[in-house]
Amino acid sequence: MLPLTNSPPPATAASANQQWGGRFAAGPAAVMQDINASIGFDQKLWRQDIAGSLAHAAMLTRCGIITPSDEHDIRHGLEGIAREIESGVFPFTAALEDIHMNIEARLTERVGEAGKRLHTARSRNDQVAADFRLWVRDAIDGIDAQVADTMRALALKAAAHAADPLPGFTHLQTAQPVTFGHHCLAYVEMLARDRSRLADCRRRMNECPLGAAALAGTSFPIDRHHTAAALGFDRPTANSLDSVSDRDFALEFLSAAAISAMHLSRLAEEIVIWCSAPFRFIRLSDAFTTGSSIMPQKRNPDAAELVRAKTGRITGALVALLTVMKGLALTYAKDMQEDKEPVFDAAAAWALSLAATAGMVRDLQPDTVRMRQFAGSGYATATDLADYLVRELKLPFRTAHHVTGRLVAKAEARGVDLSALTLADMQAEEAGITDAVFGVLTVEASVASRTSYGGTAPVRVAEQAARWLQVLA
Ligand code: ARG
Repeated sequence: MLPLTNSPPPATAASANQQWGGRFAAGPAAVMQDINASIGFDQKLWRQDIAGSLAHAAMLTRCGIITPSDEHDIRHGLEGIAREIESGVFPFTAALEDIHMNIEARLTERVGEAGKRLHTARSRNDQVAADFRLWVRDAIDGIDAQVADTMRALALKAAAHAADPLPGFTHLQTAQPVTFGHHCLAYVEMLARDRSRLADCRRRMNECPLGAAALAGTSFPIDRHHTAAALGFDRPTANSLDSVSDRDFALEFLSAAAISAMHLSRLAEEIVIWCSAPFRFIRLSDAFTTGSSIMPQKRNPDAAELVRAKTGRITGALVALLTVMKGLALTYAKDMQEDKEPVFDAAAAWALSLAATAGMVRDLQPDTVRMRQFAGSGYATATDLADYLVRELKLPFRTAHHVTGRLVAKAEARGVDLSALTLADMQAEEAGITDAVFGVLTVEASVASRTSYGGTAPVRVAEQAARWLQVLA
């Protein structure tokens, strides 16, 4: 597109749009066409547009509004157009603004009069609303399968590493040992909620706006239930004004996308941290890292960084469409043409992020020895010591917390782990402590003891991993 400041006036006046040439003598200014035409991006809707037109034409025939012979011509014409678009020879033109008018005009070129009858009892307003819903519905189905695949990759890692300790953090400070499998399953839970948001969005959006026409409905004796069923919708929408002005389905899709992208970004951030030289908890293969042109030692986790970054454009898409919609009086306004690019862009970024995440999860190899080593450092089993004092010595938890705090301070002053203190050191703080205390100070004992439902004990993690693998099979 030309920059606005340099754009010359149209050399010759364009001819009036053939779809409304009756009222218009002259065509639009070049810049009018530039800002108005959406064919550059909404041609993505061509399959949905043709499917909608086929369903509409079949319904018009069934209701006696057009003849079977017209429907026959329309069907053959649209099938021919589908082949033209598929093979890349369809003459898309910005003069015809959008996918709807490009296809309709071409249909009339191909089949004559019958093509001109297709738009009976229809408007581009209900047409685009239907097309876009169909597109979002397909996107939901594709992305849902990808989320499930990413969950499967994580659940498999979890099953393989159900018992491998990893330092668990709060505030990115060592908190308590957990297992790597448990950590992977935390993301499985997040992604499961993402899927349920998608399912929810799909269920709510699956109503057909076709037949709302421009905004008020139509005087033709149409059968909206028929069109809805033909396109796989559960029912027609119930209010014609809402039908053409609603974009909640796109906003819900983008909300689900933004939340899911945020989840993927958190995992990506952990992958970046885990790959860094000071951590080295995991290794990504050459397939998911890049080198540096200057520093030969580098293995950069670019895919993870880009998944983290894609969250920006996905969240941006949600904010963009919320902002487009927020002040629109009912019903349709051309503002709403700006609904598509954010959704297309976010869907593509989400799909790519999921594919990259699933790929990285399958690829990554945890360094279980190193993770185990750090899982035990930083007094990660201090809570186990306090719990021991409560359980075995019947100390109130708060008292046990103080005793443990003093023991941690003592160990820290000597620069050693809790398990390196002697029994005498321990008894100096709390006389009742016995040798049994050393049994609770290991990382293995710590994670094994967390057997509460949803806890990090390897037995619980293995159960949950198996459950997820069964759900996802
Ligand atoms: N290209 C338009 C859009 O995406 C289609 C609907 C146009 N309707 C209208 N009354 N101008 O919103």
